[in-house]
Amino acid sequence: MKIEENYSLKEHNTFHLSVKARWFIEYCNEEELCCILHDEYFQECISLHIGSGSNLLFLNDYNGIILHSAIRGITVVEETDDTVLLHVGAAEKWDGVVAYAVARGWGGVENLSFIPGEAGAAAVQNIGAYGTEVKDVIETVEAFNQLSFEKKVFSNQECCYSYRSSFFKNENNDPHIVTYINIRLRKHFQLNLSYKELQKELLHFDNPGLQSVRDAVILLRRHKLPDPEVLGNAGSFFMNPIIAVSHFESLKDEYPNIPFYLLGNDQVKLSAGWLIEQCGFKGKSHGAVGVYEKQALVLVNLGDATGDEIAMVAESIRMAVNDRFGIMLMPEVKYVG
Ligand code: EPU
Repeated sequence: MKIEENYSLKEHNTFHLSVKARWFIEYCNEEELCCILHDEYFQECISLHIGSGSNLLFLNDYNGIILHSAIRGITVVEETDDTVLLHVGAAEKWDGVVAYAVARGWGGVENLSFIPGEAGAAAVQNIGAYGTEVKDVIETVEAFNQLSFEKKVFSNQECCYSYRSSFFKNENNDPHIVTYINIRLRKHFQLNLSYKELQKELLHFDNPGLQSVRDAVILLRRHKLPDPEVLGNAGSFFMNPIIAVSHFESLKDEYPNIPFYLLGNDQVKLSAGWLIEQCGFKGKSHGAVGVYEKQALVLVNLGDATGDEIAMVAESIRMAVNDRFGIMLMPEVKYVG
């Protein structure tokens, strides 16, 4: 177990904000995690469990305990003629899991290539891209209840997955810490090419298979999204808003080119990036905070931005989008502090 005091979180958040944690504790296995959970000092402090900080906005130093998992490992726990079940440590880099699966010819996660972050956080957040969400392959999630200290294996249904959300993100539920995820992959699979942009990119590949889908997704993401190692960011800053069909129809009259996805249940999902671009923010900056020039949904740290400054720019974007379209964008990024 690693315990550090007044620890810089700069390399633990992909905005690369210069904030510190009062304590930083990294555990290597479930036994160490249990010891921490039972510790009285730990119970008295505020605490936050992070993955690789690819979806966090620290507003100031964290005056409590930041917990980080170092539980790694990918093992095949079950194999049939059609499927394999992988047992994955929460601290495995998500894209490493995808590369592992694609290299062995196992389908299901290739569209989720090159998403930053760790496997545990992927399951908490229900990451998604190009028509696939991680919930589509999650069989079970293993997690410790931070209040009762008990371990529970959650079925896919018990994870209550929805767009970028799950049981673990719902603040009305007891806080849980994910230690392992179990994902079911297919040996005989059908590629998911429902996303037009991906279909188009695959025209450049002969006989597309898992590896070409992975390569195409990586190309698309490299082209549209900034590399956090070069330009601090947390991917999509806002969620795509879901609105009622009646509201959508009035917008469509005024903006015939508005991109949309019909969801059923009288609901329509719109593109937050498009709404933000219409309000004139794309490629603009305020101080050290930029709105990325190729994808308006991504806020970037141009140098020494603070969390507060990023939050202020986010707020002016929300206000502008609400004034023009009557839609209040909700952050996908979690604010801390
Ligand atoms: N668009 C604009 N201007 C922009 C950005 C987008 O007009 O600045 C339009 C595009 O032309 C397109 C539509 O909006 O018609 C959708 O854009 P895009 O394909 O880039 O996807 P997105 O909806 O903006 C979502 C996810 C991404 C994921 C992509 C691809 C959310 C919040 N974001 O973005 O996920 O990679 O689809 O599947 O759902 C993330 O969550 O961090 C993330 C990057």
